[in-house]
Amino acid sequence: MVGKILVLGATGNVGTPLVKALRTQGQAVKAASRSGKPVEGAEGVVFDYADPSTFGPAFEGVDRAYVMLPSGYVNAKELLLPVIEAAKARQVKVVFQSVFGVDADDSIPYRQVEIALEKSGLPYVILRPNWFSDNFQTYWKAGIDHGQIAVPAGEGKSSFIDVRDIAASAAAALTSDRFDGKAFNLTGPKALSYGEAAKILSDVIGKPVAYTAISDEAFIGILTGAGVPNDYATFLASIFYPVREGWTAAVTGDVETLTGKAPRSLETYAKDNAQALKA
Ligand SMILES: NC(=O)c1ccc[n+]([C@@H]2O[C@H](COP(=O)([O-])OP(=O)(O)OC[C@H]3O[C@@H](n4cnc5c(N)ncnc54)[C@H](OP(=O)(O)O)[C@@H]3O)[C@@H](O)[C@H]2O)c1
Repeated sequence: MVGKILVLGATGNVGTPLVKALRTQGQAVKAASRSGKPVEGAEGVVFDYADPSTFGPAFEGVDRAYVMLPSGYVNAKELLLPVIEAAKARQVKVVFQSVFGVDADDSIPYRQVEIALEKSGLPYVILRPNWFSDNFQTYWKAGIDHGQIAVPAGEGKSSFIDVRDIAASAAAALTSDRFDGKAFNLTGPKALSYGEAAKILSDVIGKPVAYTAISDEAFIGILTGAGVPNDYATFLASIFYPVREGWTAAVTGDVETLTGKAPRSLETYAKDNAQALKA
């Protein structure tokens, strides 16, 4: 493999540590976002899912691409299928960031994008990360500030994963052909309820953080009150159903298979991000 690696969402949660991991290995990277900002010493390139005229320049000189949908978008098929087509037209290997559990039902839009990739004839790797540990410093940060995380998770457990472990897994999938044609379910090392997670965060940042299980309706009300569009708030509520059912509690060895290292615990995530969690 001699071409450049295109990283979509390069200034985002996974994209930033992914570009860093690839640059550390000496890979030539094109860091794509709407702003086209350079990231971690990698050249920046403008890319907008909503503007296919940006695809050609972004794919120029590229033989591998990390494809993901940024947060805040619900129309996965509409935005991702044209990107898979653009990769196919140029015979670019795709490492696709999907979502944990979507293989349960072929009618789920993310699964349909996976199926399109599987049928594309391209070399590909599918990564299905579980809930990010890092959501505690993004989505749930306002709750932590108020001493209470309120989500409709019931007592369901999730094996939260640190974005650095998703990035390391992605870097391995992009720089080796050993994993081609396979899907990996990426999890952290242990399943935790939101109550257990709140206790860990509370101990690390040194202030009380409680967990309150709330209804979907109450959750949507809180999010829309904070300015989240109703369709995205409703989508976020819907993805807590698998959590309450216990489906996100599975722990796999897939991060270690890809990276050779065990994934980071929530304690490690919290310690390494204590400043951001306390800010
Ligand atoms: N959070 C979780 O727990 C979780 C769990 C499993 C799977 N996932 C999946 O992971 C994905 C999110 O990953 P992430 O948190 O790393 O993403 P993210 O941080 O939300 O992605 C933001 C990046 O995407 C770019 N971007 C935003 N809108 C764009 C557009 N229209 N065209 C091109 N680039 C655009 C942003 O830069 P600009 O703004 O400059 O364009 C930035 O680089 C979602 O698909 C989600 O379903 C999330």
